[in-house]
Amino acid sequence: MSSTHNQEKLKELLTQYYLNTNEKMVFLNKKGQVIALNEAAEEVFSEDNDYSQMTHAICRRCEGYSNEFDLMSCENCFLEALEVGNGSFQVFMRTKDDKIEPFTASYEVIDKTKEIYAFTLHNVSPQIERQDRRYQRLMMQKTISAQENERKRISRELHDGIVQELINVDVELRLLKYQQDKDELIDNSKRIEGLMSRLIDDVRNLSVELRPSSLDDLGLDAAFRSYFKQFEKNYGMHIVYHTDFSSQRFDSEIETVIYRVVQEAMFNALKYAQVDTVYISLYQGEASIIAEVSDQGIGFKLGDKAKGTGLGLFGMNERAELVNGSVNIDSQVGRGTIVTLEVPITDKR
Ligand SMILES: Nc1ncnc2c1ncn2[C@@H]1O[C@H](COP(=O)(O)OP(=O)(O)OP(=O)(O)O)[C@@H](O)[C@H]1O
Ligand SMILES: [Mg+2]
Repeated sequence: MSSTHNQEKLKELLTQYYLNTNEKMVFLNKKGQVIALNEAAEEVFSEDNDYSQMTHAICRRCEGYSNEFDLMSCENCFLEALEVGNGSFQVFMRTKDDKIEPFTASYEVIDKTKEIYAFTLHNVSPQIERQDRRYQRLMMQKTISAQENERKRISRELHDGIVQELINVDVELRLLKYQQDKDELIDNSKRIEGLMSRLIDDVRNLSVELRPSSLDDLGLDAAFRSYFKQFEKNYGMHIVYHTDFSSQRFDSEIETVIYRVVQEAMFNALKYAQVDTVYISLYQGEASIIAEVSDQGIGFKLGDKAKGTGLGLFGMNERAELVNGSVNIDSQVGRGTIVTLEVPITDKR
C-alpha cells in the first residue's frame, strides 16, 4: 500500500522534474525517433518540426561532439560508438534560434526491453566562457612575462656589455690627458679606437636584434641576409640560405612575424641542436609564404620538458596566429628539427 503510494509520489516528482528542470530531456526509441521531450529540450529540438516522425532526431541538431582529437567531430559518433549506458560527453547542438552551443550530454538506455533511450543536455556555455577567460588571462601573463624577460636580457646586455665598454673608454680617455710620451699617446689612442669600434659593433648588433631597420626599409630578404651574416660572425654558425624571392614586400606585420619566427628557430638550433650548420629557406607558395628553418642535430620530443623557458615555441605559434599563419614543428631525436612557418599572403605593400 505504502509502496504504491511511494511510487505515485515518485512519479509525480519525476514528472515535475521533467517539466520544470533546465535540463533538456529527450526520450528516443531505437530508431532515434523522439517519443517525448520536455519544454527545456524544445530550445534545441524545435516544436515546429515533428521530430517524432524523423529518425536520428539528435543528429539533425548535432554539430559534433568533443573527443581527444577534435573540438567538433562526428567521427565514431557517440550514439553508435559509445557503450550505451555510460555515455557522457560534450556535444555541440544547434538551438532553435540557430546558435551553436556547447552542452554536456548523456545518452543512456532506460528500458532495455522496449529499447528506450534518454538523451539529456546541460548547457555549459557559462563554464566554457569562464574557462576561456581563464585561458586568456594565462596567455596574457605568459606574454607579459616573456616581455619582461626580453627587457631583462636587453638591460643585461646594455649593462654588462655596452656600459662596461663605455667605462673603459672613459677611463682610457682620462688617462690620455696625462700622457706625455707621444708614442704611448699614439698607442693608447689606437686602443681607444679599437674599443670604440667594438662598442659600435655591440650597439649595432643589439639594435639589429631588437628591430632591424633593413626589415622596414628593404624587406625580408635583405634583412635576413644581413642578419645571417652577423649571426655567422657572432656565433660561428654556418647558415645555408635559399630563397626564391628578393625584393617583394609584404604586409609589415607579416614580415615581422616571419623574421621573428625564423630568428627564434635559429636560436633554438644554435642553443640545443648541437650542429654547426642551419638551413633556412624562404619561398612563396600559391597564396602563402613559407619559411623553413632546419637542422640535422639532436632533435627533441614535443612535450618533453624544455631546456630553457619553453616560451619560444609557444611565442612562435602566437605570432603566426596573429597573421593567420601556422607553425609546424617536425623533430626527430637524433635526426634533427624542421620548423615550418606558413603565412597566407594578404595585402602587398
Ligand atoms: N632545434 C632544436 N634542436 C633540439 N632541441 C630543440 C630545438 N628547438 C627546440 N628544442 C627543445 O625544445 C625546447 C623548447 O624550445 P623553446 O624555444 O620553446 O624554449 P627555450 O628555447 O627553451 O626558451 P626560450 O625560447 O624562451 O629562450 C628547448 O628547451 C629544447 O629542449
Ligand atoms: Mg627558444
